[in-house]
Amino acid sequence: MAAVRHYLQFRDFSRREYAHLFARTRWIKDQFKRYRRYWPLEDRTLAMIFEKQSTRTRLSFEAGMHQLGGAAIFLSTRDSQLGRGEPVEDSAQVISRMCDLVMIRTFEQDVIERFARHSRVPVINGLTNAYHPCQVLADLYTFIEHRGPIRGRTVAWIGDSNNVCNTWLQAAEVLGFKVNVSTPPGYEDGLEKDVRNYEFFADPKRAVKGAHVVTTDVWTSMGFEAENQKRKKHFAGWQVDAKMMRAARKDALFMHCLPAHRGEEVSAAVIDGKQSVVWDEAENRLHAQKALMEFLLLGKVKP
Ligand code: CP
Ligand code: NVA
Repeated sequence: MAAVRHYLQFRDFSRREYAHLFARTRWIKDQFKRYRRYWPLEDRTLAMIFEKQSTRTRLSFEAGMHQLGGAAIFLSTRDSQLGRGEPVEDSAQVISRMCDLVMIRTFEQDVIERFARHSRVPVINGLTNAYHPCQVLADLYTFIEHRGPIRGRTVAWIGDSNNVCNTWLQAAEVLGFKVNVSTPPGYEDGLEKDVRNYEFFADPKRAVKGAHVVTTDVWTSMGFEAENQKRKKHFAGWQVDAKMMRAARKDALFMHCLPAHRGEEVSAAVIDGKQSVVWDEAENRLHAQKALMEFLLLGKVKP
């Protein structure tokens, strides 16, 4: 039996596999827009385990699985035995004997890695403290839709060195683009260590120069709420505002994984302005993850 493939971080797939996923995303999105039924995962079940809150991830996986002909089951730590200390390894054994696919949103990357090691079925990272690969998958597809191939382009990441940032850094390595990163002093320690395709800038305005995409995220991610007040002070100079967007390329896109805090990491004028593609990013979570689930369960489906 072939080894089970998981999607725990961006570098789990190759450039060729991403090319396949982007092509399938386009086709699956097109079918959806034409109200054409596509049920390759009929009778398959996705288990979704949430240890943190979510709007987009839950909705896109649940709706996506339904639209592919399957079913999705929502489990949270609050109302499952996971919240009462049942070992992750035991939960993986049980859940993966009843379901065909598992998506997990949790805190430590180690939890999802351990789950995957004991799972008979593919496991998808729906966000950990370390990575958010499904988000960047959808964001890259969004870029391609608007501007064509990402290879050779520059993405400016302004703000926290968090899960989404580090996933962009891995994506730059796999797909051959560059990331200019600017974080407040001290936060650069959170950047992925073993990646090469990025340049660090102390000054965010210099980081956005020549960028095809300017992107940011909340200053305080889930699980770090105790640092919120301190972070608001440290990140004050790292808001993406109209002036910062003017320092990027004229045709630069603004991206944000959402939820956003207008007036903190981004000004209302930018997120609600002409360069912003945040609603496309959110919608593309649905289409890209349908392609991801198809790939994990059925392999490379031919067009
Ligand atoms: N971007 C994202 O993952 O959103 P949710 O937290 O709402 O799932
Ligand atoms: N970095 C954010 C992303 C939320 C989708 C967090 O982890 O809370």
